[in-house]
Amino acid sequence: MNNIKTFRKMKQDGEKIVMLTAYDYSSAKFAQAAGVDLILVGDSLGMVIQGYEDTLQVTMDDMVYHAKATRHGANDTFIVADMPFMSYHVSLEESKRNAARLIVEGKADAVKLEGGKPVRLDVIKAITDCEIPVVAHLGLTPQSIRSLGKYTIQGRHPKEFDQMKEQALAVQEAGAFMLVLESIPEELGKEITEEVSIPTIGIGAGRYTDGQVLVYHDILGMSDLQPKFLKLYNNLAEQITGSIKAYCREVKQDAFPAEEHVYKPIK
Ligand code: KIV
Repeated sequence: MNNIKTFRKMKQDGEKIVMLTAYDYSSAKFAQAAGVDLILVGDSLGMVIQGYEDTLQVTMDDMVYHAKATRHGANDTFIVADMPFMSYHVSLEESKRNAARLIVEGKADAVKLEGGKPVRLDVIKAITDCEIPVVAHLGLTPQSIRSLGKYTIQGRHPKEFDQMKEQALAVQEAGAFMLVLESIPEELGKEITEEVSIPTIGIGAGRYTDGQVLVYHDILGMSDLQPKFLKLYNNLAEQITGSIKAYCREVKQDAFPAEEHVYKPIK
């Protein structure tokens, strides 16, 4: 199984790192069978699994439940679990306990948290001091949706561009072993990737990050969102609805179950 050292080596060797979200036993099983390098149990589950408008209502209990189910499907894959909104904002003590729950109860290998302000750097340091590996997340940080106002590309203006480069170095310095960069200009993704020694994983951050992450339901065509950075690798929504329609039709028309589906008594 990969670990924080193999990811660093992949960066040094120029080998791209493939991360995909998964949220349960079956999605994790498929992701592992396909050979992803690591799985993210993202709090995006609030939107694609729970049907919320944003990720803010996702709780620690939700994350532990989904991390555990994901682990059952991917025993040999490195798993990162998201720390949900407000699970690392109140105190360092609470942040450490919540990170530990994801590792001990959720069986994740690392945790991810959003932001690079000084107050977040303290959290990254406190959690890594507990020997829990931390993935940082900069750029568009969906848990900040109320203060951002809308989901939009970050780091476009010269001041923000430079600030994000500083934050990238700061999260590395605080102890993060990997950095997710979301919805930023390709040039910024490239410059950050060149400047930090930890691997960068982009989602809408262009072609030059050390790896890429996308949401399971998005690449399979099972969600409503279609941002510019997304590539659809299937259209399962159509296939799933079509299959369920066929099942409905056959039950209504008495075509299912057929003789081959029924049990017979032993004579
Ligand atoms: O929650 C999530 O799935 C994420 C990725 C989009 C990076 O944080």
